[in-house]
Amino acid sequence: MSFIHIKKAWSLSQNDITGEREFIKRREILKKLASSSLVFAGSSFLPYSVYGSANSFYPPPVNKIYNVNRELTKEKYATTYTNFYEFGSNKNIWRKASKLKTKPWLLSIDGLVNKPLKIDINDLIKKIGGIEERVYRFRCVEAWSMTVPWAGFPLNKIISLVEPNSDARFVKFETFYNPDVAPGQKQKWYPWPYQEAITIEEATNELSFMATGIYGKELPNQNGAPFRLVLPWKYGFKSIKSIVKISFVKERPIGMWEKLAPKEYGFWANVNPNVSHPRWSQATEQQLGKEERIPTIIYNGYAEQVSDLYDNLQNKLKDKLFR
Ligand code: MTE
Repeated sequence: MSFIHIKKAWSLSQNDITGEREFIKRREILKKLASSSLVFAGSSFLPYSVYGSANSFYPPPVNKIYNVNRELTKEKYATTYTNFYEFGSNKNIWRKASKLKTKPWLLSIDGLVNKPLKIDINDLIKKIGGIEERVYRFRCVEAWSMTVPWAGFPLNKIISLVEPNSDARFVKFETFYNPDVAPGQKQKWYPWPYQEAITIEEATNELSFMATGIYGKELPNQNGAPFRLVLPWKYGFKSIKSIVKISFVKERPIGMWEKLAPKEYGFWANVNPNVSHPRWSQATEQQLGKEERIPTIIYNGYAEQVSDLYDNLQNKLKDKLFR
């Protein structure tokens, strides 16, 4: 981010990679699924391992509406090349992040709502009626990207539960604060805790997703366990990890990166190949694990679902919408 030097090629060395989980043949997957009580509405073949989770929510049924015409990023890349500044400013923090205790995990939802809530994340999943899998594109502001199957539920389900009142205009999210576990939080020049926000209209958009899992399993800590936001049409820094608090507020909150470098990281941060970051182009992106760069697409390919949100704002905000 503001302090990151972007390497030209995506740069995961062999040493950074965990041994990829053993590939499981179709027959074995089906056997496992047959013994599970979950109804599996997805395709008959999963391109990743479904082993390794003791949690009965996994693997979740696949929501086929949300798919993309891109190859899935290999699990080992998506889970070992991660941004999580609480654990350090490089990408290789997955070992450090394993120290975070995610069970139990209390989430508070407060602010301008009729029914505030303090609830453990597992109880929230049950209350909401379970989780589903969606494949989304994900585009970091640093110009790398991935395509991954997230598990979770639409943010809209939380909104229905807590019933925001008519003064609530923004939804604010906060990550945990615990410098004893997360050494990055000892670096005082960052305005911890990590914070992000979106408008209520963005929050109720069908794409706004609360992820609890990835690749058919619970999220590993480095990807934001146990509970993170995923906004596939926005630059990745909006998709805040390991959330402990959601607040419904009237005034627009300022996110951590916006506080640090407002000219580089704005509030809207919608993906747009035509609006450069002040220090680099956003025209193309490098998919994790691939050599060649591909063109970046406006709203990261989700214009059909989200461009309405911004039609009235276009003239007023121009390229602020995309930074
Ligand atoms: N959330 C917290 N709490 N801390 C972070 O450093 N990094 C953001 C976002 N959410 C970050 C965060 C950035 S810059 C990106 S690109 C994505 O997480 C990366 O998600 P991934 O590591 O799962 O790919």
